[in-house]
Amino acid sequence: MAKNPLTIPRCHGGRPSPAMSPPVTTLRRRILAWYAAAARDLPWRATRDPYRIWVSEIMLQQTQVDTVIPYYRRFLRAFPTLKALAAADIDDVLKCWEHLGYYARARNLHKAAGVILHDHGGHLPMTAEGLAALPGVGRYTAAAIASIAFGQDAAALDGNIRRVLCRLFRVQANPRDGKTQQQLWALAADLLPSGQAGNFNQALMDLGATICTPRSPRCARCPVTLHCQARLHKQQNELPKAVKKTPVPHYRVAVGVIHGKAANAGRILMAKRKADALLGGLWEFPGGKINRGESAAEAAKREIAEEIGINVKVGERAALVRHAYSHFRVTIEAFHCKHVSGKPRAIACDKIRWLRPQDIRRLAIPKASDKILAALKPSAGSLQ
Ligand code: ADE
Repeated sequence: MAKNPLTIPRCHGGRPSPAMSPPVTTLRRRILAWYAAAARDLPWRATRDPYRIWVSEIMLQQTQVDTVIPYYRRFLRAFPTLKALAAADIDDVLKCWEHLGYYARARNLHKAAGVILHDHGGHLPMTAEGLAALPGVGRYTAAAIASIAFGQDAAALDGNIRRVLCRLFRVQANPRDGKTQQQLWALAADLLPSGQAGNFNQALMDLGATICTPRSPRCARCPVTLHCQARLHKQQNELPKAVKKTPVPHYRVAVGVIHGKAANAGRILMAKRKADALLGGLWEFPGGKINRGESAAEAAKREIAEEIGINVKVGERAALVRHAYSHFRVTIEAFHCKHVSGKPRAIACDKIRWLRPQDIRRLAIPKASDKILAALKPSAGSLQ
């Protein structure tokens, strides 16, 4: 890290010393004044309810504000209180989360609601430490909730805040490197104005989201442009240092639209993914990855036998879909399949269910399965 010209003074405990150098207090004041005038009007800012703030912070963990807003509103209509969430069926929670991605967040939210109800008398812990002990709550989220919902002096560091700090203090090292992360957390803690952490953290988030953006930052409109060391050195477009992204894997998958016989005639067999898997807890057409040297139809037959223990006759192709999730891409070939023999069992999945085609969308399904469903002809139930 470059020598910090603002030199945030620190005493032994790592807390800001009472004799702060003027630029730091100015910095805080300007950031808070800017926030008072320019804060985004976001639904979770119109409440003091810790439950609602918690839900917002979990949704915002991996997702942009604009995407979160409609989900946040819908989720709270469905589960208006912590008690309602704890009492809900996980399938209904996942349905509400459908297509928001990173489904472990929804499963952890549901699990944590139970923990809070049973171990904390229905009240969220008020400290960052207490919050961080809940499923799905990491260091950043704990600090955000503790400061916003409970007014605790907890510094938060997310992607937006990291970018702001890297520029403001001209951090030239890789910001994801462990030591640099520690330095950034310490900087965030030193900057925090006592008693105003909630507003200050959110001010930095908004600054990062609207002014100090990844590309073409709007420095002319920044309240702390005169203090910004990156700008002083004309490095605002170079910092934070770019980190090499690992390429996302591409999977080739074959699945079956398995049509039932006898009592299950007109129904299609769906499988629920195991909770700990990618897209865990969501329902999909049974199948799996195509092996090297194997045709898609062969893979569908083999994967169906392995996953649910039945023998199918693979028929014509029902759909070819491509979808890019955040961590991987898939190309899926779906085939109409006839159930020939064997009683379906959940071997490599969590549950199975025979469903009428029109009922499949009642379940939480991944986007790619939704695309397959959309590609099926209306008479899909009788296609064999
Ligand atoms: N990102 C994460 N938490 C946020 C919040 N409270 N406001 C705006 N963006 C956020």
